[in-house]
Amino acid sequence: MNIRCATPEDLMNMQHCNLLCLPENYQMKYYFYHGLSWPQLSYVAEDESGKIVGYVLAKMEEDPEDSVPHGHITSLAVKRSYRRLGMAQKLMDQASRAMCENFDAKYVSLHVRKSNRAALHLYTNTLKFQISEIEPKYYADGEDAYAMRRDLSEFKEVFKQETIKETAGQDTSKETPKEVGIQESCRESQKEKPSQEKASET
Ligand SMILES: CC(C)(COP(=O)(O)OP(=O)(O)OC[C@H]1O[C@@H](n2cnc3c(N)ncnc32)[C@H](O)[C@@H]1OP(=O)(O)O)[C@@H](O)C(=O)NCCC(=O)NCCS
Repeated sequence: MNIRCATPEDLMNMQHCNLLCLPENYQMKYYFYHGLSWPQLSYVAEDESGKIVGYVLAKMEEDPEDSVPHGHITSLAVKRSYRRLGMAQKLMDQASRAMCENFDAKYVSLHVRKSNRAALHLYTNTLKFQISEIEPKYYADGEDAYAMRRDLSEFKEVFKQETIKETAGQDTSKETPKEVGIQESCRESQKEKPSQEKASET
């Protein structure tokens, strides 16, 4: 397994994975909006043959109401037979790290269905998101959403320490599970301002 930054060529396969895994689907132009506006923030998980088995589609919030720079997870999914391998956790951490490093994000937000036990476990127990609000009838079928947030200040400290160790040439291999490799190529990419174009959020 390998986790790497998504490229424009990956976007159609991400959409395919989304259609298999979630009822919230998006037009191709919405994937391009993410990929072209914030090329650093979306990641894919691929198997040994290069097939995409999971993704996180992420962006920065444009014109945030609280004026605090923060990222948003638009969509996350891992194909059924690749679940419980830690892939979603790694995809989320990579996207969050890229939000901090490229855009100085202070927190990351998302929406999740009240009934989505697996995702709620992942967000609450593993990634330490907190519920910020309940949004009644957020989804098209009338289900409520939890709006959740993860403060990134503590997480920022963790990867700062990792970077210091890496730079000092220390062996950090023990902290990176061998079964899921992570390519870090898009951490230092361009810091251009996101497009002002608006897209509807689901
Ligand atoms: C939610 C989802 C992305 C999790 O992906 P994943 O790669 O299996 O998650 P991880 O392996 O990284 O899980 C990390 C932790 O999250 C929690 N978790 C994940 N799936 C869980 C489940 N089915 N039940 C309970 N806890 C779960 C566990 O604490 C897990 O750690 P553990 O395996 O050591 O116990 C995946 O189930 C999925 O794609 N679901 C359909 C799409 C979806 O709901 N996306 C989220 C929309 S908001």
